[in-house]
Amino acid sequence: MLIETADVLSNNLLTGEYRVLVLASPQIGPQVQPGQFVHLRLPHLTEAVLRRPFSVFMTDGATLSLLYKCVGKGTRAMARLRPGDTVSLLGPLGKGFPPIDRDITPVLVAGGYGMAALYLLARQAPVQGIVFAGGARTEDILCADDFETIGWQVRITTEDGSRGDKGLVTEALDAWLRQERTSPARVFFACGPMSMLKAVSQRAQTGGWKAWLSLDRHMGCGLGACLACVQKVRVSPSSPQNEATVKPEAGWTWARICTEGPVFECRDILWDEP
Ligand SMILES: Cc1cc2nc3c(=O)[nH]c(=O)nc-3n(C[C@H](O)[C@H](O)[C@H](O)COP(=O)(O)OP(=O)(O)OC[C@H]3O[C@@H](n4cnc5c(N)ncnc54)[C@H](O)[C@@H]3O)c2cc1C
Ligand code: FES
Repeated sequence: MLIETADVLSNNLLTGEYRVLVLASPQIGPQVQPGQFVHLRLPHLTEAVLRRPFSVFMTDGATLSLLYKCVGKGTRAMARLRPGDTVSLLGPLGKGFPPIDRDITPVLVAGGYGMAALYLLARQAPVQGIVFAGGARTEDILCADDFETIGWQVRITTEDGSRGDKGLVTEALDAWLRQERTSPARVFFACGPMSMLKAVSQRAQTGGWKAWLSLDRHMGCGLGACLACVQKVRVSPSSPQNEATVKPEAGWTWARICTEGPVFECRDILWDEP
């Protein structure tokens, strides 16, 4: 984990409330693995003193891109960044997605800016698969063309029907699963709202496939110290171990999303807590 002062190279509007911030990051950029995140602070903007976590959308050697949605004061302050400004980066943080094996069909499922956490994974994969991209409306469908350019199939759904099929992303996934009965060696990788992740988890467990889910939670330190980001997980051979908080009699523990996550295999997540 490193701390770096990064120059803003560009900060362009993508669509609706979404922008892409490109930073010079010769130290952190080359170390980022798909699904990892950075904790960003805006030193010269006093209205956003705390760091905010963002998945790394793209890294290309010495640069690093974040695809972000303007939702509050921190992200609105980010929208005002211009080339020549600097930000403070802490990263790369967390445990990202496991590498994709050549002999499986990867199935990516994203809601809104969840596409940002999955793009680097798709770029580095040794095989192409299919991406289900969902959002409320057209503006929430992000970088679908980028996935198509690198050879992935993209299925789009919007809740208002303004782009792709009308409905939820998991409805499109269900339709595809009914059709594609001959491809049993599949693994799901997903990032988006909790309700979507839970639905993906149900499909994966019913079909006997693995699903690696990137959880999004409010964060404090990003470094495992403040416990602001905990998630209840099963204690199992594949689950993260946090000795300090293990409740062996109940078979569960609190995992810190910033440190043991943000990516977990769906069978390790206990959905009803906290
Ligand atoms: C591991 C991780 C990766 C992330 N990656 C991305 C990304 O690639 N692109 C992106 O746009 N955002 C991402 N986020 C969410 C991002 O961190 C928040 O949107 C951001 O911190 C909001 O800051 P703000 O000051 O603008 O909003 P605030 O003023 O703090 O909050 C505005 C509104 O957003 C809600 N909110 C704030 N943070 C979160 C959150 N983490 N999850 C759900 N709701 C939240 C608040 O409850 C409030 O309603 C990620 C979060 C995590 C934990
Ligand atoms: S954000 Fe502080 S422990 Fe995770």
